[in-house]
Amino acid sequence: MSRIYIEDLHRHVGEEVTIRGWLYHKRSSGKIRFLVVRDGTGLLQCVMVKANVTEEVFALSDALTQESSLAVTGMVKKDDRAPGGVEMEITSLSVIQIAKEYPISPKEHGVDFLMDHRHLWLRSSRQHAILRVRHQIISAIREFFDNRGFILMDAPIFTPAACEGTSTLFETEYFDMGKAYLTQSGQLYGEAGAFALGKTYVFGPTFRAEKSKTRRHLTEFWMVEPEVAFNDLKDNMELAEDFLEHIVASVLKHRMPELKALERNTKFLENVKAPLPKISYTEAVDLLKAKGVNVAWGDDFGGADETVISENFDRPVIVHHYPTKIKAFYMKRDAENPETVLAMDVLAPEGYGEIIGGSQREDDLDALVQRIQEHQLPQSAFEWYIDLRRYGSVPHAGFGLGVERTVAWICGLDHVRETIPFPRMIYRLTP
Ligand code: 4AD
Ligand code: MG
Repeated sequence: MSRIYIEDLHRHVGEEVTIRGWLYHKRSSGKIRFLVVRDGTGLLQCVMVKANVTEEVFALSDALTQESSLAVTGMVKKDDRAPGGVEMEITSLSVIQIAKEYPISPKEHGVDFLMDHRHLWLRSSRQHAILRVRHQIISAIREFFDNRGFILMDAPIFTPAACEGTSTLFETEYFDMGKAYLTQSGQLYGEAGAFALGKTYVFGPTFRAEKSKTRRHLTEFWMVEPEVAFNDLKDNMELAEDFLEHIVASVLKHRMPELKALERNTKFLENVKAPLPKISYTEAVDLLKAKGVNVAWGDDFGGADETVISENFDRPVIVHHYPTKIKAFYMKRDAENPETVLAMDVLAPEGYGEIIGGSQREDDLDALVQRIQEHQLPQSAFEWYIDLRRYGSVPHAGFGLGVERTVAWICGLDHVRETIPFPRMIYRLTP
Protein backbone atom coordinates (compact mmCIF):
# COMPACT_ATOMS: atom_id res chain seq x y z
CA MET A 1 0.00 0.00 0.00
CA SER A 2 1.35 3.41 -0.87
CA ARG A 3 1.93 5.90 1.93
CA ILE A 4 -0.64 8.64 2.30
CA TYR A 5 0.32 12.20 3.23
CA ILE A 6 -1.84 14.93 4.71
CA GLU A 7 -1.55 17.12 1.61
CA ASP A 8 -3.20 14.34 -0.45
CA LEU A 9 -6.04 13.56 1.95
CA HIS A 10 -8.63 15.54 0.00
CA ARG A 11 -8.46 12.67 -2.50
CA HIS A 12 -9.33 10.14 0.20
CA VAL A 13 -12.57 11.54 1.62
CA GLY A 14 -14.73 8.69 2.91
CA GLU A 15 -11.79 6.29 3.24
CA GLU A 16 -10.09 4.97 6.31
CA VAL A 17 -6.39 5.84 6.18
CA THR A 18 -3.35 5.95 8.43
CA ILE A 19 -1.20 9.03 8.81
CA ARG A 20 2.19 8.96 10.49
CA GLY A 21 3.65 12.09 11.98
CA TRP A 22 3.95 14.17 15.10
CA LEU A 23 1.54 15.77 17.53
CA TYR A 24 1.45 19.51 16.85
CA HIS A 25 -0.97 20.32 19.64
CA LYS A 26 -4.03 18.94 21.30
CA ARG A 27 -7.04 20.03 23.30
CA SER A 28 -9.79 18.15 24.97
CA SER A 29 -13.38 18.79 25.78
CA GLY A 30 -15.26 16.19 27.82
CA LYS A 31 -15.25 12.91 25.95
CA ILE A 32 -13.63 14.34 22.83
CA ARG A 33 -9.94 14.85 22.06
CA PHE A 34 -8.75 17.08 19.27
CA LEU A 35 -5.29 16.08 18.08
CA VAL A 36 -3.58 18.25 15.47
CA VAL A 37 -1.08 16.06 13.66
CA ARG A 38 1.62 17.21 11.25
CA ASP A 39 3.51 15.01 8.83
CA GLY A 40 5.64 17.61 7.05
CA THR A 41 3.13 18.12 4.25
CA GLY A 42 0.46 19.80 6.33
CA LEU A 43 -1.60 19.84 9.50
CA LEU A 44 -4.57 17.58 10.12
CA GLN A 45 -7.14 17.94 12.84
CA CYS A 46 -8.03 14.48 14.16
CA VAL A 47 -11.08 14.08 16.33
CA MET A 48 -11.22 11.25 18.82
CA VAL A 49 -14.61 10.46 20.35
CA LYS A 50 -14.43 8.26 23.42
CA ALA A 51 -17.24 5.99 22.23
CA ASN A 52 -15.47 5.28 18.91
CA VAL A 53 -12.17 3.95 20.25
CA THR A 54 -10.97 1.45 22.84
CA GLU A 55 -10.34 2.53 26.45
CA GLU A 56 -6.65 1.99 25.83
CA VAL A 57 -6.48 4.24 22.80
CA PHE A 58 -8.42 6.96 24.56
CA ALA A 59 -6.00 6.83 27.51
CA LEU A 60 -3.07 6.95 25.09
CA SER A 61 -4.28 10.26 23.71
CA ASP A 62 -4.02 11.79 27.17
CA ALA A 63 -0.42 10.63 27.49
CA LEU A 64 0.62 12.32 24.25
CA THR A 65 2.96 15.27 24.62
CA GLN A 66 3.74 17.92 22.04
CA GLU A 67 5.89 16.47 19.20
CA SER A 68 5.28 12.85 20.23
CA SER A 69 5.55 10.68 17.13
CA LEU A 70 2.52 8.60 16.28
CA ALA A 71 0.31 6.93 13.71
CA VAL A 72 -3.37 7.79 13.57
CA THR A 73 -5.95 5.78 11.70
CA GLY A 74 -9.41 7.01 10.91
CA MET A 75 -12.04 8.09 8.46
CA VAL A 76 -11.29 11.14 6.29
CA LYS A 77 -14.16 13.63 6.34
CA LYS A 78 -14.68 16.75 4.29
CA ASP A 79 -14.57 19.92 6.40
CA ASP A 80 -14.41 23.20 4.58
CA ARG A 81 -13.23 25.09 7.67
CA ALA A 82 -10.16 22.88 8.12
CA PRO A 83 -6.83 24.00 6.55
CA GLY A 84 -6.58 21.19 3.96
CA GLY A 85 -10.36 20.92 3.63
CA VAL A 86 -10.49 17.63 5.57
CA GLU A 87 -10.56 16.26 9.08
CA MET A 88 -10.06 12.76 10.48
CA GLU A 89 -12.31 10.79 12.78
CA ILE A 90 -9.90 8.60 14.69
CA THR A 91 -10.58 4.90 15.01
CA SER A 92 -7.16 3.91 16.24
CA LEU A 93 -3.90 5.43 17.41
CA SER A 94 -0.45 4.09 18.06
CA VAL A 95 2.42 5.89 19.69
CA ILE A 96 5.92 5.67 18.23
CA GLN A 97 7.60 7.78 20.89
CA ILE A 98 6.34 9.96 23.72
CA ALA A 99 8.38 13.13 23.34
CA LYS A 100 10.19 14.68 26.29
CA GLU A 101 9.03 18.11 27.33
CA TYR A 102 9.33 20.15 24.13
CA PRO A 103 11.29 23.37 24.50
CA ILE A 104 9.25 25.35 21.98
CA SER A 105 5.74 25.96 23.21
CA PRO A 106 3.02 27.96 21.50
CA LYS A 107 3.90 30.95 23.71
CA GLU A 108 6.24 33.67 22.43
CA HIS A 109 9.96 32.99 22.44
CA GLY A 110 12.85 35.38 21.73
CA VAL A 111 14.68 35.09 18.43
CA ASP A 112 17.93 33.95 20.08
CA PHE A 113 16.14 31.14 21.86
CA LEU A 114 14.47 30.05 18.65
CA MET A 115 17.74 30.29 16.73
CA ASP A 116 19.46 28.12 19.36
CA HIS A 117 16.69 25.58 18.76
CA ARG A 118 16.66 26.01 15.01
CA HIS A 119 16.76 22.21 14.51
CA LEU A 120 13.36 22.06 16.25
CA TRP A 121 12.03 25.45 15.19
CA LEU A 122 12.00 24.11 11.61
CA ARG A 123 8.92 22.10 12.63
CA SER A 124 6.70 25.15 13.00
CA SER A 125 4.13 26.17 10.40
CA ARG A 126 5.81 29.47 9.64
CA GLN A 127 9.15 27.80 8.95
CA HIS A 128 7.41 25.20 6.79
CA ALA A 129 5.95 27.97 4.68
CA ILE A 130 9.31 29.74 4.27
CA LEU A 131 11.19 26.56 3.41
CA ARG A 132 8.59 25.59 0.86
CA VAL A 133 8.87 28.98 -0.82
CA ARG A 134 12.67 28.60 -0.77
CA HIS A 135 12.30 25.22 -2.41
CA GLN A 136 10.03 26.71 -5.06
CA ILE A 137 12.46 29.53 -5.79
CA ILE A 138 15.32 27.07 -6.21
CA SER A 139 13.32 24.84 -8.54
CA ALA A 140 12.18 27.87 -10.54
CA ILE A 141 15.82 28.99 -10.87
CA ARG A 142 16.87 25.61 -12.25
CA GLU A 143 13.81 25.39 -14.46
CA PHE A 144 14.47 28.82 -15.99
CA PHE A 145 18.05 28.06 -16.97
CA ASP A 146 17.45 24.44 -17.93
CA ASN A 147 14.60 25.47 -20.25
CA ARG A 148 16.90 27.95 -21.96
CA GLY A 149 19.65 25.43 -22.60
CA PHE A 150 22.07 26.59 -19.91
CA ILE A 151 24.41 23.93 -18.55
CA LEU A 152 24.84 23.67 -14.78
CA MET A 153 28.50 23.98 -13.90
CA ASP A 154 29.58 23.35 -10.34
CA ALA A 155 32.43 25.56 -9.17
CA PRO A 156 34.91 24.61 -6.44
CA ILE A 157 34.47 25.81 -2.88
CA PHE A 158 38.17 25.79 -2.01
CA THR A 159 39.80 28.45 -4.16
CA PRO A 160 43.29 29.91 -4.48
CA ALA A 161 42.22 33.59 -4.60
CA ALA A 162 39.58 36.24 -4.00
CA CYS A 163 36.80 36.98 -6.47
CA GLU A 164 34.91 39.76 -4.70
CA GLY A 165 37.76 41.53 -2.90
CA THR A 166 40.11 40.37 -0.19
CA SER A 167 38.40 41.90 2.86
CA THR A 168 35.76 39.18 3.27
CA LEU A 169 37.78 36.01 2.66
CA PHE A 170 37.58 32.98 4.92
CA GLU A 171 40.89 31.20 4.82
CA THR A 172 42.07 27.76 5.77
CA GLU A 173 45.35 25.83 5.65
CA TYR A 174 45.56 23.63 2.59
CA PHE A 175 48.11 20.87 3.28
CA ASP A 176 51.56 22.06 2.23
CA MET A 177 50.22 24.38 -0.46
CA GLY A 178 49.64 27.31 1.84
CA LYS A 179 46.29 28.99 2.13
CA ALA A 180 43.02 28.12 0.48
CA TYR A 181 40.01 30.42 0.58
CA LEU A 182 36.31 29.56 0.73
CA THR A 183 34.73 30.78 -2.48
CA GLN A 184 33.01 34.17 -2.46
CA SER A 185 31.47 33.52 -5.87
CA GLY A 186 31.74 30.86 -8.56
CA GLN A 187 31.81 33.49 -11.27
CA LEU A 188 35.42 33.17 -12.46
CA TYR A 189 34.85 29.45 -12.98
CA GLY A 190 31.52 30.23 -14.61
CA GLU A 191 33.39 32.35 -17.16
CA ALA A 192 35.59 29.38 -18.02
CA GLY A 193 32.36 27.40 -18.34
CA ALA A 194 30.75 29.94 -20.67
CA PHE A 195 33.78 29.82 -22.97
CA ALA A 196 33.55 26.03 -22.95
CA LEU A 197 29.78 25.52 -23.13
CA GLY A 198 28.33 28.85 -24.32
CA LYS A 199 25.90 29.49 -21.48
CA THR A 200 26.26 28.05 -18.03
CA TYR A 201 25.12 28.62 -14.49
CA VAL A 202 26.95 27.98 -11.27
CA PHE A 203 24.74 27.28 -8.26
CA GLY A 204 26.19 26.69 -4.86
CA PRO A 205 27.08 27.99 -1.42
CA THR A 206 29.35 31.01 -1.20
CA PHE A 207 31.13 32.53 1.77
CA ARG A 208 31.83 36.04 2.94
CA ALA A 209 33.54 36.95 6.18
CA GLU A 210 31.09 39.83 6.51
CA LYS A 211 31.72 41.77 9.68
CA SER A 212 28.38 43.46 9.19
CA LYS A 213 25.57 42.42 11.46
CA THR A 214 22.62 43.41 9.29
CA ARG A 215 19.35 41.80 8.32
CA ARG A 216 20.72 41.21 4.80
CA HIS A 217 24.06 39.53 5.49
CA LEU A 218 24.94 35.91 6.05
CA THR A 219 28.48 34.52 6.12
CA GLU A 220 27.33 31.50 4.09
CA PHE A 221 24.69 31.97 1.43
CA TRP A 222 23.57 30.37 -1.81
CA MET A 223 24.12 32.13 -5.08
CA VAL A 224 23.13 31.26 -8.64
CA GLU A 225 25.37 32.73 -11.32
CA PRO A 226 24.56 32.55 -15.02
CA GLU A 227 27.33 33.43 -17.44
CA VAL A 228 26.81 33.83 -21.18
CA ALA A 229 29.39 34.14 -23.96
CA PHE A 230 28.65 37.01 -26.40
CA ASN A 231 26.22 38.73 -24.00
CA ASP A 232 26.71 42.42 -23.28
CA LEU A 233 25.33 44.58 -20.48
CA LYS A 234 21.97 45.01 -22.20
CA ASP A 235 21.57 41.27 -22.77
CA ASN A 236 22.56 40.73 -19.16
CA MET A 237 19.85 43.07 -17.87
CA GLU A 238 17.26 41.40 -20.08
CA LEU A 239 18.24 37.98 -18.82
CA ALA A 240 17.95 39.20 -15.22
CA GLU A 241 14.49 40.67 -15.69
CA ASP A 242 13.11 37.58 -17.44
CA PHE A 243 14.66 35.49 -14.71
CA LEU A 244 13.04 37.44 -11.86
CA GLU A 245 9.69 37.40 -13.64
CA HIS A 246 9.91 33.62 -13.92
CA ILE A 247 10.85 33.06 -10.27
CA VAL A 248 8.11 35.27 -8.89
CA ALA A 249 5.47 33.85 -11.25
CA SER A 250 6.40 30.33 -10.18
CA VAL A 251 6.01 31.15 -6.49
CA LEU A 252 2.70 32.93 -7.09
CA LYS A 253 1.46 29.95 -9.08
CA HIS A 254 2.52 27.18 -6.72
CA ARG A 255 2.95 28.64 -3.23
CA MET A 256 -0.01 30.93 -2.62
CA PRO A 257 -1.09 29.07 0.56
CA GLU A 258 2.43 29.55 1.97
CA LEU A 259 2.45 33.27 1.11
CA LYS A 260 -0.96 33.56 2.79
CA ALA A 261 0.33 31.78 5.88
CA LEU A 262 3.16 34.33 5.98
CA GLU A 263 0.59 37.13 5.58
CA ARG A 264 2.51 38.34 2.54
CA ASN A 265 0.86 41.12 0.62
CA THR A 266 1.41 39.89 -2.95
CA LYS A 267 0.50 43.16 -4.64
CA PHE A 268 4.12 44.14 -5.40
CA LEU A 269 4.99 40.61 -6.43
CA GLU A 270 2.33 40.63 -9.12
CA ASN A 271 4.11 43.64 -10.69
CA VAL A 272 7.31 41.72 -11.32
CA LYS A 273 7.15 41.60 -15.10
CA ALA A 274 9.84 42.37 -17.67
CA PRO A 275 10.93 44.95 -18.66
CA LEU A 276 11.99 46.34 -15.29
CA PRO A 277 12.73 50.04 -14.78
CA LYS A 278 16.41 50.91 -15.34
CA ILE A 279 18.37 53.89 -14.08
CA SER A 280 22.06 54.68 -14.19
CA TYR A 281 24.10 55.02 -11.01
CA THR A 282 24.39 58.74 -11.76
CA GLU A 283 20.60 59.07 -11.94
CA ALA A 284 20.32 57.10 -8.72
CA VAL A 285 22.68 59.55 -6.99
CA ASP A 286 20.57 62.47 -8.25
CA LEU A 287 17.45 60.73 -7.00
CA LEU A 288 19.01 60.27 -3.55
CA LYS A 289 20.11 63.90 -3.42
CA ALA A 290 16.61 65.01 -4.39
CA LYS A 291 15.33 62.99 -1.43
CA GLY A 292 17.73 64.76 0.88
CA VAL A 293 20.26 61.95 1.24
CA ASN A 294 23.83 63.09 1.78
CA VAL A 295 25.66 61.23 -0.98
CA ALA A 296 28.38 62.10 -3.50
CA TRP A 297 29.10 60.62 -6.93
CA GLY A 298 31.53 57.76 -6.32
CA ASP A 299 30.08 56.62 -2.99
CA ASP A 300 28.90 53.06 -2.68
CA PHE A 301 25.24 52.70 -1.75
CA GLY A 302 24.44 51.37 1.68
CA GLY A 303 21.33 49.41 2.56
CA ALA A 304 19.50 52.60 3.57
CA ASP A 305 20.33 54.27 0.23
CA GLU A 306 19.06 51.25 -1.68
CA THR A 307 15.81 51.44 0.25
CA VAL A 308 15.33 55.11 -0.66
CA ILE A 309 16.01 54.35 -4.34
CA SER A 310 13.68 51.36 -4.47
CA GLU A 311 10.85 53.28 -2.78
CA ASN A 312 10.43 55.15 -6.07
CA PHE A 313 9.42 52.00 -7.92
CA ASP A 314 6.63 49.47 -7.57
CA ARG A 315 8.82 46.60 -8.81
CA PRO A 316 12.53 45.75 -8.80
CA VAL A 317 14.75 48.41 -10.35
CA ILE A 318 18.01 47.88 -12.24
CA VAL A 319 20.83 50.32 -11.49
CA HIS A 320 23.65 50.26 -14.05
CA HIS A 321 27.00 51.94 -14.82
CA TYR A 322 28.45 52.13 -11.32
CA PRO A 323 31.75 53.92 -10.64
CA THR A 324 34.74 51.79 -11.55
CA LYS A 325 36.47 52.39 -8.24
CA ILE A 326 33.73 50.80 -6.10
CA LYS A 327 33.33 47.66 -8.21
CA ALA A 328 35.23 44.42 -8.72
CA PHE A 329 38.34 44.04 -10.87
CA TYR A 330 36.72 41.86 -13.52
CA MET A 331 34.06 44.35 -14.62
CA LYS A 332 34.54 45.90 -18.05
CA ARG A 333 34.94 49.65 -18.14
CA ASP A 334 32.58 51.63 -20.30
CA ALA A 335 34.58 52.73 -23.37
CA GLU A 336 32.70 56.06 -23.40
CA ASN A 337 33.34 56.75 -19.73
CA PRO A 338 36.06 54.61 -18.11
CA GLU A 339 35.13 56.08 -14.72
CA THR A 340 32.16 53.72 -14.88
CA VAL A 341 31.87 49.98 -15.45
CA LEU A 342 29.27 47.95 -17.38
CA ALA A 343 27.77 46.79 -14.10
CA MET A 344 24.20 46.30 -13.04
CA ASP A 345 22.57 45.62 -9.69
CA VAL A 346 18.93 44.76 -9.20
CA LEU A 347 17.35 46.32 -6.11
CA ALA A 348 14.24 44.61 -4.78
CA PRO A 349 11.25 46.77 -3.83
CA GLU A 350 9.97 47.37 -0.30
CA GLY A 351 13.46 47.94 1.10
CA TYR A 352 14.88 44.47 0.47
CA GLY A 353 17.98 45.88 -1.18
CA GLU A 354 20.32 44.35 -3.73
CA ILE A 355 19.30 40.87 -4.80
CA ILE A 356 21.35 40.66 -8.01
CA GLY A 357 24.82 41.94 -8.83
CA GLY A 358 26.37 41.47 -12.24
CA SER A 359 28.27 42.93 -15.16
CA GLN A 360 29.77 42.56 -18.56
CA ARG A 361 33.29 41.21 -17.97
CA GLU A 362 36.64 42.66 -18.99
CA ASP A 363 37.48 40.56 -22.05
CA ASP A 364 40.67 42.37 -23.10
CA LEU A 365 43.91 40.68 -21.99
CA ASP A 366 45.96 43.80 -21.23
CA ALA A 367 43.12 45.66 -19.57
CA LEU A 368 42.38 42.71 -17.29
CA VAL A 369 46.00 42.28 -16.24
CA GLN A 370 46.15 46.00 -15.50
CA ARG A 371 43.00 45.79 -13.37
CA ILE A 372 44.37 42.83 -11.40
CA GLN A 373 47.48 44.87 -10.65
CA GLU A 374 45.49 47.98 -9.69
CA HIS A 375 43.52 45.87 -7.22
CA GLN A 376 46.81 44.47 -5.86
CA LEU A 377 45.66 40.91 -6.42
CA PRO A 378 48.24 38.11 -6.72
CA GLN A 379 48.47 37.69 -10.48
CA SER A 380 49.89 34.18 -10.27
CA ALA A 381 46.68 32.90 -8.67
CA PHE A 382 44.71 34.38 -11.58
CA GLU A 383 46.85 33.07 -14.45
CA TRP A 384 44.27 30.44 -15.34
CA TYR A 385 41.58 33.16 -15.44
CA ILE A 386 43.76 35.43 -17.56
CA ASP A 387 44.20 32.48 -19.96
CA LEU A 388 40.55 32.88 -20.88
CA ARG A 389 41.55 36.23 -22.45
CA ARG A 390 44.52 34.64 -24.24
CA TYR A 391 42.63 31.93 -26.06
CA GLY A 392 39.61 33.12 -27.98
CA SER A 393 38.35 35.88 -25.72
CA VAL A 394 34.85 37.18 -26.50
CA PRO A 395 32.49 39.67 -24.87
CA HIS A 396 30.55 37.98 -22.09
CA ALA A 397 28.40 38.85 -19.12
CA GLY A 398 26.68 37.33 -16.14
CA PHE A 399 25.27 38.00 -12.73
CA GLY A 400 24.70 36.48 -9.31
CA LEU A 401 21.40 36.26 -7.47
CA GLY A 402 21.48 35.69 -3.72
CA VAL A 403 18.90 33.05 -2.82
CA GLU A 404 18.36 34.14 0.77
CA ARG A 405 17.72 37.80 0.00
CA THR A 406 15.32 36.68 -2.70
CA VAL A 407 13.48 34.42 -0.25
CA ALA A 408 13.33 37.25 2.31
CA TRP A 409 11.85 39.60 -0.27
CA ILE A 410 9.33 37.18 -1.75
CA CYS A 411 8.20 35.97 1.69
CA GLY A 412 8.23 39.50 3.12
CA LEU A 413 10.57 38.62 6.02
CA ASP A 414 12.42 41.28 7.92
CA HIS A 415 15.66 39.27 8.26
CA VAL A 416 17.56 36.71 6.15
CA ARG A 417 18.13 34.44 9.16
CA GLU A 418 14.85 32.57 8.59
CA THR A 419 15.39 32.06 4.85
CA ILE A 420 17.93 29.23 5.13
CA PRO A 421 17.55 26.11 7.27
CA PHE A 422 20.71 26.70 9.34
CA PRO A 423 21.92 30.29 9.01
CA ARG A 424 25.56 31.22 9.46
CA MET A 425 26.11 34.75 10.67
CA ILE A 426 28.87 36.65 12.37
CA TYR A 427 27.54 35.59 15.79
CA ARG A 428 26.07 32.22 14.89
CA LEU A 429 27.66 28.89 14.01
CA THR A 430 25.27 26.50 15.78
CA PRO A 431 23.22 24.40 15.53
O1 4AD B 1 27.09 41.51 -5.77
P1 4AD B 1 27.82 40.25 -5.44
O2 4AD B 1 28.95 40.33 -4.50
O3 4AD B 1 28.27 39.67 -6.85
C1 4AD B 1 29.09 38.61 -7.08
O4 4AD B 1 29.52 37.85 -6.26
C2 4AD B 1 29.36 38.40 -8.54
N1 4AD B 1 30.57 37.60 -8.67
C3 4AD B 1 28.16 37.73 -9.16
C4 4AD B 1 28.32 37.49 -10.63
O5 4AD B 1 28.39 38.44 -11.39
N2 4AD B 1 28.38 36.24 -11.05
O6 4AD B 1 26.79 39.18 -4.87
C5 4AD B 1 25.68 38.78 -5.65
C6 4AD B 1 24.46 38.65 -4.78
C7 4AD B 1 24.01 39.94 -4.10
O7 4AD B 1 23.24 40.73 -4.98
C8 4AD B 1 23.18 39.40 -2.95
O8 4AD B 1 21.90 39.01 -3.37
C9 4AD B 1 23.95 38.18 -2.56
O9 4AD B 1 24.70 37.78 -3.68
N3 4AD B 1 24.84 38.43 -1.43
C10 4AD B 1 24.58 38.07 -0.16
N4 4AD B 1 23.52 37.45 0.39
C11 4AD B 1 23.55 37.21 1.72
N5 4AD B 1 24.58 37.55 2.52
C12 4AD B 1 25.67 38.17 2.01
N6 4AD B 1 26.70 38.47 2.80
C13 4AD B 1 25.70 38.46 0.62
N7 4AD B 1 26.60 39.04 -0.22
C14 4AD B 1 26.06 39.01 -1.45
MG1 MG C 1 26.95 43.42 -5.18
